[in-house]
Amino acid sequence: MSNRIFSGIRPSGKLHLGNYLGAIKNWIELQDKPDTEQAIFAVVDYHGITTPFDPKTYKQQAMDVILDYLAAGLAPKKVLLMRQSRVSQHTELAWIFNTITPVSWLDRLPTYREQLEKSPKYNHMGLLDYPVLMAADILIYKSNVVPVGEDQMPHIDLTNEIAKKFNSMFGQTFDPVKAHLAEGARIMSLQEPTKKMSKTGDDGIALSDAPDVIREKIKKAVTDSGKEIIYDPEKKPAVSNLLTIHHLLSGKAIKSIENEYFGKSYSEFKSDLAEVVADFLKPFQERRKELEADMTYVEDLLIESEEKAKEMAQKTLDEVKTRMGLL
Ligand code: TYM
Repeated sequence: MSNRIFSGIRPSGKLHLGNYLGAIKNWIELQDKPDTEQAIFAVVDYHGITTPFDPKTYKQQAMDVILDYLAAGLAPKKVLLMRQSRVSQHTELAWIFNTITPVSWLDRLPTYREQLEKSPKYNHMGLLDYPVLMAADILIYKSNVVPVGEDQMPHIDLTNEIAKKFNSMFGQTFDPVKAHLAEGARIMSLQEPTKKMSKTGDDGIALSDAPDVIREKIKKAVTDSGKEIIYDPEKKPAVSNLLTIHHLLSGKAIKSIENEYFGKSYSEFKSDLAEVVADFLKPFQERRKELEADMTYVEDLLIESEEKAKEMAQKTLDEVKTRMGLL
């Protein structure tokens, strides 16, 4: 079966290694697969305004995510890159889905509860409704494969619930959607290894961090009790996370990294890991600088991509509206 792929990232801060290893790395692999019929990757800027943001920098933040996508290796010849708010069919379909989604499907979701804890003043409709817009993002292109990190699983399940409900009310329109999880689907915080890596402070490594910043952050990363450098996520969550990062960036098997550091100290392992991360990010950061110098190229390709996305999205919207007696 040929696959239609959709995924997105909120422009709510600098992208970090979790975003890269959990999502973007996978996207780059998928763009080259022969069974990929179409892949669309978005900056989901309408999702990003459901939590605190700064209007003065917001437009640039969205562009920064696009630059990161390109620098990481997404090829505009193979995929469509877009800003969610520029393709208004997403929000139109979300409104339609709002009319068939029970509130009880939304207020129990862990992501809603977590965000509310972080910013209690943001308890508004948009935050509650966030996963409905995400379902619309995916289904507006009739996507069937969604490469995301593990934290997004409840949203993929909800997308399928909404699709099923729509089909049962208005006739078969949407096929089931599958999450595509990477090996790095859950990269943990360097400071609190039982929480996922996020966009804040020393918790995560930003893709734009300079080598010295990377060295400092990895040096400060917490470790577990016991000196052994072994992979055991339950008993040794911190070291296991560092081993995973090493493995995914260096390409070495975890076993062989364990052997390499047998009897050696955490500090030796950490300082080598910092070099692995810095070396990996160097070409990415260089490509990003080149792209920054050619923003007309980036703007043009976005506009072209968004036009194509609009065409595809409108087809689905017309079908949906026809089925519902709106057209
Ligand atoms: P967001 O912006 O929080 O994160 C973007 C992607 O990065 C993954 N990710 C991680 N993966 C592994 N380890 C981590 N520590 C880590 N942190 C983040 C996320 O799983 C995600 O894949 N709701 C989505 C954005 C979205 C979307 C969509 C995704 C909106 N519409 C449609 C797919 C399809 C979100 O907030 O991701």
